[in-house]
Amino acid sequence: MALDKAQIEQELQQALSQISAAVNLESLKQVKIEYVGDKSPLAKANQLLASLEPAQRAEFGKLIGGARATVNEAFEAKSNELSLQRDLIALQEEKVDVTLPARTALKGGLHPLTSLINEISDLFIGIGYNIAEGPELESEWLNFDALNIPADHPARSMQDTFFVEPLEAKLVLRTHTSPVQIRTMLNQKPPIYVICPGKTYRADELDATHTPVFHQVEGLVIDTNITMADLNGTLDYFAKSIFGDDVKTRLRPSFFPFTEPSAEVDIFFNGRWIEWGGCGMVNQKVLIACGVDIEKYSGFAFGMGLERTLMVKYGITDMHDIVEGDVRFTQRFGLGIK
Ligand code: PHE
Repeated sequence: MALDKAQIEQELQQALSQISAAVNLESLKQVKIEYVGDKSPLAKANQLLASLEPAQRAEFGKLIGGARATVNEAFEAKSNELSLQRDLIALQEEKVDVTLPARTALKGGLHPLTSLINEISDLFIGIGYNIAEGPELESEWLNFDALNIPADHPARSMQDTFFVEPLEAKLVLRTHTSPVQIRTMLNQKPPIYVICPGKTYRADELDATHTPVFHQVEGLVIDTNITMADLNGTLDYFAKSIFGDDVKTRLRPSFFPFTEPSAEVDIFFNGRWIEWGGCGMVNQKVLIACGVDIEKYSGFAFGMGLERTLMVKYGITDMHDIVEGDVRFTQRFGLGIK
């Protein structure tokens, strides 16, 4: 191929027009391969310089060199322009509107039982009580014997109690929160004002009204001059705080080995009497076993099921709703999943 000025000029114009026609960096890259790089017509023309006479070589060298420099400059300018354009588009497309409301992350909410325990704890702390705790895996002695529940008492039978192996260790899953009464009296001197909310276990099948793992709240007061009237007033305060001021309470004679006298506490709620829990004056046998001076002190105790309290308060008819942990149940209590 011979060198020709018009031809070189044409290649130059062609390269410039291709560069200026590139719409983005990808098409510019293609243009670079064809019109700027080592395989471009101008680069090939440059290779032919070697075969020319010195005089011609100088003339064409200048011409081709100038053309290639022009192309390179145009390419650089276009490349800068398109890079800038790409960045501007990216900025536009990836723009974040910081004024938009945030999408809330689902964090879960408190189970209504937890809220109830918090509520009960607050209202008793408000009248000077402390919260007492005890283990769920309890000694048979504290769960039964110390509470005056003898070895042949039906509550101890295999059907009701989860005994824990090895049986010689005499450990059970506590069947009520009453062993915490004993623990408290053994560890603290009167006056004692405590409540103990916690998990309890009985070998029941899960059905609409039973669950093998449930919750109780125990109350225990030991002080001078404590009478049934104090128990009555305390239960009244408790019931009104939970069920509203219109609720009425009544005590019905009953029997528990660890209280004497004993009573069932009923509440009048939504037009009917409903059994709520057990209570009574702490049996003197129990006080003596715990080293409490019965000449000086007396006390009362009460215990309620919390699932039952929740069911009565909110008209829940199926225990499954309480134990299954479906958030749609929890949400109904206004404990939004936030
Ligand atoms: N512990 C009893 C129960 O589980 C309830 C109760 C507690 C009764 C305290 C009297 C006093 O049934």
